[in-house]
Amino acid sequence: MREKAIDARHIKKKFEKDLALDDISFTIDEGEIFGFLGPSGSGKTTTINILTGQLNFYKGDAVIMGKSSQNLSAEHLEKIGLVSDTSGFYEKMTLYNNLIFYSKFYGIQKSRVDDLLKKVGLYDSRNKVAEKLSTGMKQRMLLVRALINRPKVIFLDEPTSGLDPATSRMIHKLILELKAAGTTIFLTTHDMNEATLLCDNLALLHKGRLVEEGKPSELIQKYNVDKKVIIHYFDGHQKTVAFADLGLVLADELENIVSIHSCEPTLEDVFITLTGGKLNV
Ligand SMILES: Nc1ncnc2c1ncn2[C@@H]1O[C@H](COP(=O)(O)OP(=O)(O)OP(=O)(O)O)[C@@H](O)[C@H]1O
Ligand SMILES: [Mg+2]
Repeated sequence: MREKAIDARHIKKKFEKDLALDDISFTIDEGEIFGFLGPSGSGKTTTINILTGQLNFYKGDAVIMGKSSQNLSAEHLEKIGLVSDTSGFYEKMTLYNNLIFYSKFYGIQKSRVDDLLKKVGLYDSRNKVAEKLSTGMKQRMLLVRALINRPKVIFLDEPTSGLDPATSRMIHKLILELKAAGTTIFLTTHDMNEATLLCDNLALLHKGRLVEEGKPSELIQKYNVDKKVIIHYFDGHQKTVAFADLGLVLADELENIVSIHSCEPTLEDVFITLTGGKLNV
């Protein structure tokens, strides 16, 4: 059986009187990509801050790699990577020197930095001053920095938000490579396609509560109660009908039909069904 990388049990977090997280529980196996999905303000970053020991809470337990998140030693923290939009860097230093500084800190060879920079398409920009980088370049620089010392668990807080599709794909590829190397990845996102493509398991968060958890395909199937199919006709038109009505349509129009495809709901549909609200807000 695989070891648990993260075990969150009944976590409650308040800011002043406001309950930001309400009885959150989930477990993440070692080597898994876990997607944490929810609209803005639902508590994703708060959860990351708790799991990485940056924020305390008043009820529950958060255990990461067998250790309480409230009690992480320097040795444990070195095994945890974090990329968020509040991660800092040295603005006046070049992209490269920001990273070399880190690699020296951990006693890791420069070639590791070079390899990672090539993977995310930043090698040719390595001599740019960090403050002059675009948002996407900064995000990739911070991702590289978090990977330098090969963390066992990495938290990626919306790593592709605001990035163009090609750059997002580059990051997706890197995330899958990390998984192949055995890294546990905690990924928050608003992007349903990203979650469906990358995640082994995911949790849907709404106003500080977990409303669903499971594999993307299982969730999609579970909420596929109102099954529909798309019918393509020889004359080029198509129509969507309820699965329950398919028999009638076939009886009437079979000779005109080229193909029939089931149309599955997306995770976005699942989220709307559960909460009545959109995910990407
Ligand atoms: N330091 C803080 N002090 C007070 N309230 C906070 C603090 N940090 C977060 N909150 C509140 O907690 C709730 C959850 O915020 P959080 O940043 O975790 O959301 P999020 O899901 O990461 O949103 P986004 O997608 O916009 O990043 C929000 O209502 C937010 O206003
Ligand atoms: Mg956030």
